[in-house]
Amino acid sequence: MKAIEITTHGAPEVLRPAERPAPVAAAGEVLVRVNASGVNRPDVLQRKGLYPVPPGASDLPGLEVAGVIVDGDAAAMASAGFKPGDRVCALVAGGGYAELCVAPVGQCLPVPANLSDVEAASLPETFFTVWSNVFDRGRLQAGDTLLVQGGSSGIGVTAIQLAKAANAKVIVTVGSDAKAAACIALGADEAINYKTHDFVAEVQRITGGRGAHVILDMVAGDYVARELNCLADDGRLVIIAVQGGTKAQVDAGAVLRRRLTITGSTLRPRSVPFKSAIAQALRQTVWPWLESAKVKPVIHQVFPAEKAAEAHALMESNQHIGKLVLQW
Ligand SMILES: NC(=O)c1ccc[n+]([C@@H]2O[C@H](COP(=O)([O-])OP(=O)(O)OC[C@H]3O[C@@H](n4cnc5c(N)ncnc54)[C@H](OP(=O)(O)O)[C@@H]3O)[C@@H](O)[C@H]2O)c1
Repeated sequence: MKAIEITTHGAPEVLRPAERPAPVAAAGEVLVRVNASGVNRPDVLQRKGLYPVPPGASDLPGLEVAGVIVDGDAAAMASAGFKPGDRVCALVAGGGYAELCVAPVGQCLPVPANLSDVEAASLPETFFTVWSNVFDRGRLQAGDTLLVQGGSSGIGVTAIQLAKAANAKVIVTVGSDAKAAACIALGADEAINYKTHDFVAEVQRITGGRGAHVILDMVAGDYVARELNCLADDGRLVIIAVQGGTKAQVDAGAVLRRRLTITGSTLRPRSVPFKSAIAQALRQTVWPWLESAKVKPVIHQVFPAEKAAEAHALMESNQHIGKLVLQW
């Protein structure tokens, strides 16, 4: 099969088309003929050598695919209601940049009939991550205010839409006015350009001094102390990335006085049963929102798979709004 390899750690050009043996579905897995592969920031980190591949996962990059089931564990497929020929999108722990990819059957979801494979391939990584961190860890409720750092990212456009569909208020931070306008068009209530405005003061102003109930943070570093200053009493700060550094100074007094929670998680190394439980929750609550177009894929650009290096270069330029997808 054709695949995109990380030939050595480095710049986008280290991604090269290659021939690889087709993977074989093990117990509990399906083999998917991939029509489209989503691109995510963790793929960029893996390419640079900053994100180790979990034990047992493919060394090929790619955490999400969409296509057609061509083979697999018949009993597992039957118990999940799938069969060869079905269109699925799947969250995978690696190996997504390839024409064929194996996926645990529990991490597969049907492609909504109104979506193309390119659109479906853009869903799993950010939908699983946002569900797990905003709703499970962050316990976002209807009527709460969510602050999303990086509102125009692949994660951000998903967080905006899922939180709005769940009747929360959404504030985002972005690095340009054009990104702010795109996030408002997607449903965000307020967008703060963090390059021209102090997000702490803005969140306090927007919430009348109360603060956000949940913050989804992909920056960390010195953002953490500032985030505690615009988190509501009993608020939850959920860290999913450390683009601003891993070290933070925390006012422990504020944490106990205002009963704040600082938490975080990373999806990729979690177990198949953990990810399968998220898939079930998504299928029950979020898939109807996709089917009714209440929530939509947001795709910035589609690349032929052999141009994966160009997709990574665009992602690192931070010019995109939403997702990048490779097509086979
Ligand atoms: N923990 C997990 O399980 C998990 C899973 C998936 C992804 N992630 C992480 O989540 C992040 C987003 O992933 P993605 O695939 O959606 O990537 P992406 O589309 O490339 O988004 C990265 C975003 O970070 C924003 N950003 C950078 N510095 C910022 C700052 N100081 N304040 C606010 N925003 C800032 C950039 O927007 P601006 O141009 O507006 O700055 C950009 O939109 C990545 O860091 C990724 O590693 C974590």
